[in-house]
Amino acid sequence: MTGLFITLEGPEGAGKSTNREFLAQRLREHDLEVVLTREPGGTPLAERIRELLLAHSDEAMAADTELLLVFAARAQHLAEVIRPALQRGAIVLCDRFTDATYAYQGGGRGLPEARIAELERFVQGDLNPDLTLIFDLPVEIGLSRAAARGRLDRFEQEGRAFFEAVRLAYLRRAEALPERYRIVDAAQSLTQVQRDLDSLLPQIVERARG
Ligand SMILES: Nc1ncnc2c1ncn2[C@@H]1O[C@H](COP(=O)(O)OP(=O)(O)OP(=O)(O)O)[C@@H](O)[C@H]1O
Ligand SMILES: [Mg+2]
Repeated sequence: MTGLFITLEGPEGAGKSTNREFLAQRLREHDLEVVLTREPGGTPLAERIRELLLAHSDEAMAADTELLLVFAARAQHLAEVIRPALQRGAIVLCDRFTDATYAYQGGGRGLPEARIAELERFVQGDLNPDLTLIFDLPVEIGLSRAAARGRLDRFEQEGRAFFEAVRLAYLRRAEALPERYRIVDAAQSLTQVQRDLDSLLPQIVERARG
């Protein structure tokens, strides 16, 4: 693999999608090939799995079902989009990836980390993001930004304790592997967030050029 795999993480409303576009634009100005994608989803089949994950239903979804659907979508996404893009040397900018599984299904739902790690090895082998940007902000700010967009999905309707656990799980992962993670203070104005991202840009461009 010669490309660069960058993931954007953080709770709803943190600014992942907004800043993914911003980063893509900046990187393209450096004549780099950028592939924008997201999870769960990123291929037609994986997007159908996403719909299952986000939709409200009368039947409660078991936590293990949720976990397996997330990784099923990921297997498809890796095969169809991520691995081919990295193989041809592109930068993949992915909105959520396995850190979100540790945060939501692990931290939020309380599934054992070891079970997630087992599926991670099975589905990804030794493929992990080269760099993960965690957009961190107080829970209530993220929720109010997300709520301003309209109807809440199956995750967004969770309570505050769920999102506190999600936030904590993200921060713990960053703490355990500081070389892979950068924490972005997402509570700042968008201008300031993008200034911070600009300051990370030279090292990203350098790594992308190998
Ligand atoms: N730093 C910021 N300050 C104020 N508003 C912001 C900031 N960043 C993003 N927003 C706004 O908050 C909303 C959510 O942003 P965005 O969709 O990028 O978040 P997200 O992390 O992708 O959320 P989700 O996980 O729900 O997709 C948007 O309306 C966006 O314009
Ligand atoms: Mg988004």
